[in-house]
Amino acid sequence: MKKLGRTGQRVLKIIHIFFASLWVGGAVTLNAALLLLGPAETMGELLGYNYAAKLIDDAIIVPGAMGCLITGVLISGLTPWGFFRHRWVTVKYVMTVVCIVVGIVVLGPTVNDQPAITMELGVAAYADPIYHSNYVHCLLGGAFQLTSILFMLSISSLKPWQRAKLPAAPAAA
Ligand code: HEM
Repeated sequence: MKKLGRTGQRVLKIIHIFFASLWVGGAVTLNAALLLLGPAETMGELLGYNYAAKLIDDAIIVPGAMGCLITGVLISGLTPWGFFRHRWVTVKYVMTVVCIVVGIVVLGPTVNDQPAITMELGVAAYADPIYHSNYVHCLLGGAFQLTSILFMLSISSLKPWQRAKLPAAPAAA
């Protein structure tokens, strides 16, 4: 496959890091809101929080994660990094896909269901078993995602586990 020139590789890397920043920022914000915001006192407050969480998921976390995957595939195909030549890149593929699946199966539904429950019950939603179960799943799924993303951020920077026979890395793009 034809490879990108130096400028093209640099632009692609900047776009990749932009999406990574979206994902990290969205995940930190969602976790901070879950852990640090005190209980809402009115239905309006709780609904505002529910919609803010949904917005962060839909408009920041999902595009960030999908953008990382798509630009990661493009970097693999269009630069000398390749798909599975470096273990840290393979690990990022596996972890990114696992995080996206956890996001779709565990996190998405929990964030999407909450506004309707709050509309029906107001702050009594806190005592609703489905609302509470969604909250716990969001807390656990969110912690898992954030830990995984921070690990991926670290290995992106350190680029560990290089195999001796392969060139360490292409010239800095
Ligand atoms: C399918 C998933 C991914 C693949 C295949 C992938 C692949 C790569 C590759 C090959 C590079 C080196 C680019 C270069 O130096 O020219 C890179 C850089 C980088 N990636 Fe990813 N990546 C993926 C997901 C992620 C994720 C999820 C994050 C963080 C949330 C991330 C953050 C970064 C950062 C910060 C850099 C720049 C590191 C540096 O140059 O010091 N990547 N990625």
